[in-house]
Amino acid sequence: MPTRDHDNAETHAADLAPLLRFLNESPTPFHAVANIAARLRDAGYTETDEGADFKAAPGKYFFIRDGSLIAAQFSGSPQTRGFRLVGAHTDSPCLKLKPNALAAGNGYAKLAPEVYGGALLAPWVDRGLGLAGRVTLNADGAMTGRLINIARPVAFIPSLAIHLDRGVNENRSINKQKELPAILCRADEGPDFPDFNELLREQLLREHPRLKVEKILAFDLCLYDCQPAEVVGLKREFVASARLDNLLSCYAAVEALLAPQDAGEQNNNIIALNDHEEVGSVSAGGADGPFLQSVLRRLCGGGDNLARALRHSMLVSADNAHGVHPNYPDKHEPAHRPLLNAGPVIKINSNQRYATSGETAGWFRRICERAGIPCQSIVTRSDMGCGSTIGPITAAKLGVRTADIGVAQLGMHSARELAGAHDQKMLADALREFFGGEEWPF
Ligand code: CO
Repeated sequence: MPTRDHDNAETHAADLAPLLRFLNESPTPFHAVANIAARLRDAGYTETDEGADFKAAPGKYFFIRDGSLIAAQFSGSPQTRGFRLVGAHTDSPCLKLKPNALAAGNGYAKLAPEVYGGALLAPWVDRGLGLAGRVTLNADGAMTGRLINIARPVAFIPSLAIHLDRGVNENRSINKQKELPAILCRADEGPDFPDFNELLREQLLREHPRLKVEKILAFDLCLYDCQPAEVVGLKREFVASARLDNLLSCYAAVEALLAPQDAGEQNNNIIALNDHEEVGSVSAGGADGPFLQSVLRRLCGGGDNLARALRHSMLVSADNAHGVHPNYPDKHEPAHRPLLNAGPVIKINSNQRYATSGETAGWFRRICERAGIPCQSIVTRSDMGCGSTIGPITAAKLGVRTADIGVAQLGMHSARELAGAHDQKMLADALREFFGGEEWPF
């Protein structure tokens, strides 16, 4: 007979399976966007070309720019109803391949990466690394792009043995240029040395068998940890995975948008999932670019409709927050120590590293209450610097009132991070209440 605990564990694992699958199948922003786009299509959303003549009739739309996606459940009259906006980012710190990535050295073929974003480097060592991203190529006489995912550990960055570096446990630093090239195989220079373009061509044929590959032109590829996301902890209360920051928020945003809503069908609900947050957001699809404003402008039509709509709008910018690490409690402000599985965290910084105001914090707290979930708040110690996110950037770009929030996690920007197994659902419930709940006072 299965025990009750066993039954609960089975249910719990089944509930978390779709999130874990999304994390595993989204090794790059391109893959995350493709997976979200597939879900949106299934839910009746139409992919819309920004280059086409777009008439903003009520409907369900989504727009893609590379690794960024905006989806809109548009009901009309934004100048009086406003927009209910949820933002998150699709990218995570990682090791991105250099253009001439494959090099020979000391009996090995190695892949040379560039560090993307503020990665914690040590966790990338001694892991089986896969390779994924987008390849740009000529096929059937035209230029095109395709996603690939070599989802097995084809590369590895081994540690240097402690016998050869006796001081390593006292003073370890990692030289990004010298110490991060990843071993692909044993190979000597010469005619048998692997050809990287040939390797890409084989993978393209494996994943896109009908494609007539003529020439690889360029690529956006990164290494990633192949160890799948898993539920961990004695009470199965944590999720360990790569890219929890910030795919967990992206997932919750999509869940909330697609959830059945009471009043939501009359609202204008938008999710904006931007790439390039980890490198400052300045890009064509990043939060500091024109993507969101351009989509909202077209939904609003001409004149001063957008300005009017934004005065009746609010953005909830969802990005993970630092939970208090039990081994380093003094890194947190004593009265603000967020815990995992204790609900979303409202992020506050009076120097506007977070865009939350008393008004938007209040509204978010009210939403959580109505959804029946707890919520916490965080402010950084006064003697420490504060991180930032897409909230203040989008707030400044659009002039929209904003709350920065996110679930608590540990080990942010590690190759493998830790979050609460119950927080994703609480965040999705809060965002669902934001989209579908009561009339707001703005
Ligand atoms: Co983040």
